[in-house]
Amino acid sequence: MRFCVAIDGPAAAGKGTIGRAVAARFGFAHLDTGLLYRAVAAKGGDPVAVAEGLQETDLLRDDLRSMAVGQAASRVAAIPQVRAALVAFQRRIARAEGGAVLDGRDIGTVICPQAEVKLYVTASPQVRAHRRWLEVGGDRGQVLAEVIERDQRDMGRAAAPLKAAPDAVLLDTSVLTVDVAIAAAIDVVERRMRELG
Ligand code: CDP
Repeated sequence: MRFCVAIDGPAAAGKGTIGRAVAARFGFAHLDTGLLYRAVAAKGGDPVAVAEGLQETDLLRDDLRSMAVGQAASRVAAIPQVRAALVAFQRRIARAEGGAVLDGRDIGTVICPQAEVKLYVTASPQVRAHRRWLEVGGDRGQVLAEVIERDQRDMGRAAAPLKAAPDAVLLDTSVLTVDVAIAAAIDVVERRMRELG
């Protein structure tokens, strides 16, 4: 069975948490595609060459989650040749037998426009910055500024900008608990499965 759940949305909206839970519920594979761009940025050197030679083991580095790597990732992610080098790997997982959840910025729009389910997960910048601050600590004001800066760069770039696919289901997690947000996402997937028989 092939079934792709595409989850897109801005920084720290809860895509990863929801993606992991949906994948676990249905026994699907899960790929956090942000890790690809983070790994390219963290390796340094020529980003196009690094993206072309990226290995799955590069995604296991333990320094990929920092704010600094997130900022650097959004810079390399604006380079069309970097994005192009990472498409085939993502599509292979998206169409793998057994189902898959991919979360990122362009999954429903570019990587898997035929996805059976598309979710656009968002929340207010203040809520997202607070969640990120709980993860990384540091100065609250700076975390908010960086979240906003990264969103603007991701939404404003020419290559695969962050936007909701026209047929995506919007999930605003600003006032939802994690459990309620996960239940809502699972409900969307179950309804789609029933529709498809
Ligand atoms: O976890 P968080 O939402 O903060 O970021 P991430 O998903 O790890 O993504 C890091 C950066 O990679 C983003 O700011 C985007 O610039 C880029 N990215 C992208 O361009 N396309 C994707 N499918 C995933 C991430």
